[in-house]
Amino acid sequence: MSETASDRTSVPQHVAIIMDGNGRWAQQRGRPRTFGHSKGVEAVRRVVEAAGDMGIHTLTLFSFSTENWNRPADEVGALFELMKRYVAADLKSLKQRGVRIRIIGRREDLREDLAEIVGQAEAETASNTDFNLNIAFNYGGRDEILRAAQNLARAIHAGDLSVDAIDEGRFSGALDTAGLPDVDLMIRTSGEQRISNFLLWQAAYAEFHFTDVLWPDFDEAELARALEAFKNRDRRYGGVDAGAA
Ligand code: IPE
Ligand code: IPE
Ligand code: MG
Repeated sequence: MSETASDRTSVPQHVAIIMDGNGRWAQQRGRPRTFGHSKGVEAVRRVVEAAGDMGIHTLTLFSFSTENWNRPADEVGALFELMKRYVAADLKSLKQRGVRIRIIGRREDLREDLAEIVGQAEAETASNTDFNLNIAFNYGGRDEILRAAQNLARAIHAGDLSVDAIDEGRFSGALDTAGLPDVDLMIRTSGEQRISNFLLWQAAYAEFHFTDVLWPDFDEAELARALEAFKNRDRRYGGVDAGAA
C-alpha cells in the first residue's frame, strides 16, 4: 500500500454500515426484492476486502434488524438463507485472510442451521487478529442494551458484581461488541438519514456519512469517498478545537 503512517491515523478504526436500498435497487429493475438482497451480498464481499486494504480494522455490517421481522415471511426466509449461504461459502477464505468473524444480535430466534454455522464461523476464526468482521443479524441496539443490563443484573443477583462497579467500561463489556472499539464512522446508503436502532451505545460519538447510492451499487470507490469525508471531520468530543483554547 502506498499510504503513509500519517494517512493511517485518520483512517477510522471501526466503520459500521447500514446496508440499505436492496429492495429499491431490485424494484428499479422490475425484479423481486430478494434479487436485490442477493446482489447486496456481492457488495458485502467487495467492501470487506476493500476495508481491509484501506486500513480499517473493524467493520460492522447491519444485515437483519430486530424490526425486519415485520417483513413478509418469504423475504425474511430469503434473508436468513442468504446469511447462511454467505457464511458457509466465504468462511474458508475469510479465515485464511486473518478475519475474525462475530455475529452480533439476538441468537435465540435464529434457526438451528444458521445458529450452527455462525457458531462455527466464530469458533474457527476466534484466534484471527488482522481484521474484525461483525455481522449484525437479528440485531437491535435497544435489545442489545437490554440483554446487557439483564446479564449485569444477574451477576449482581448472584453476588458476583456490585452495583457501584458498573461503569461505562463494564457496561460496554456486557454488549455483543465487548472488547471492540466504539464506532468511528457510521455509513448509511440509499439516502435514508436515520439510525434504525443500530449500535446505539457504540455510535455515541460516531461521525455519520449518508450516501444516496443503493447498497448493491456500493463499492470500493464509495467507501473511499466516505473515508475522505471522515478525514475532514473535526472530532471535538465536547471539547474545543486545538488552538482555540
Ligand atoms: C437493506 O435493504 C437490507 C435489509 C434491511 C435487510 P432494504 O431491503 O431495506 O431495501 P429498501 O430500503 O426497501 O430499498
Ligand atoms: C435497517 O434498514 C436494517 C438493515 C439495514 C439491516 P431498514 O430498511 O430495515 O430500515 P428502516 O425500516 O427503513 O428504518
Ligand atoms: Mg430499507
